[in-house]
Amino acid sequence: MRKKIVAANWKMNMTQAESARFVESLLVDLGDILDVEVVIIPPFTAIARVTESLGKAQNIKVGAQNMHWERNGAFTGEISSALLRDLFVRYVVLGHSERRSLFGETDEMVNLKVRAAHEAALRPIVCVGETLEQREKGKVEKVLSTQLRGSLADLGEKELLETVIAYEPVWAIGTGKVATAAQAQEAHAFIRGTLSKISDETTADKIRIQYGGSVKPDNARELMSQADIDGALVGGASLDPRSFAQIVKAAQKEE
Ligand code: 13P
Repeated sequence: MRKKIVAANWKMNMTQAESARFVESLLVDLGDILDVEVVIIPPFTAIARVTESLGKAQNIKVGAQNMHWERNGAFTGEISSALLRDLFVRYVVLGHSERRSLFGETDEMVNLKVRAAHEAALRPIVCVGETLEQREKGKVEKVLSTQLRGSLADLGEKELLETVIAYEPVWAIGTGKVATAAQAQEAHAFIRGTLSKISDETTADKIRIQYGGSVKPDNARELMSQADIDGALVGGASLDPRSFAQIVKAAQKEE
């Protein structure tokens, strides 16, 4: 059984004070949740404050939105795995479509980062997904397969098991246009099939695949009840602690 993982990607939002207030409110709703893995992914500037605010609440983990593949050196403006470890970060989002389209990240760069993350015992959340144009041209499978094979090149079984994949169709990010549960499930099943070719079926069966793109409290349960959808990577709706908590609760098994 794959444990569901729901993550809040705050993107370029949330001051330290706002982050502390968010955590305070979230702990009221989710302070003792254990059956879903919860990850908060603040901007770099608020990571320490989120960790501090979480205090002893070890059921909620902290992530980062990006990192460089070198451990240290003359890379002005970049953050490395060693610097993230220093802040007790556990997860790192890599290859988000905004990084790929706005900052020119390629699969090769994502792969360098994924391997560097594993070397530092950080768990990567590797994002893949097609644009609307690619979907309309019937290229979804080709795009996903290329991104997965490129980003995950040369990983061993242990590293793959500690990698989370996030399927984020670019046309559904921040647009309010959510993929239907059937569309998302179809893509997730394809991703799992590709993972089994990259490794083997037993390994692929254990890898968690999140859905991301306009996830909201009212569509989260249907999406996460699909066979191959193991959680959500939430942008806009994760900025409000109540709506994020509702999405996490939608990942819990119904009583
Ligand atoms: P939205 O939930 O705002 O569509 O963002 C999704 C996303 O990009 C999460 O990484």
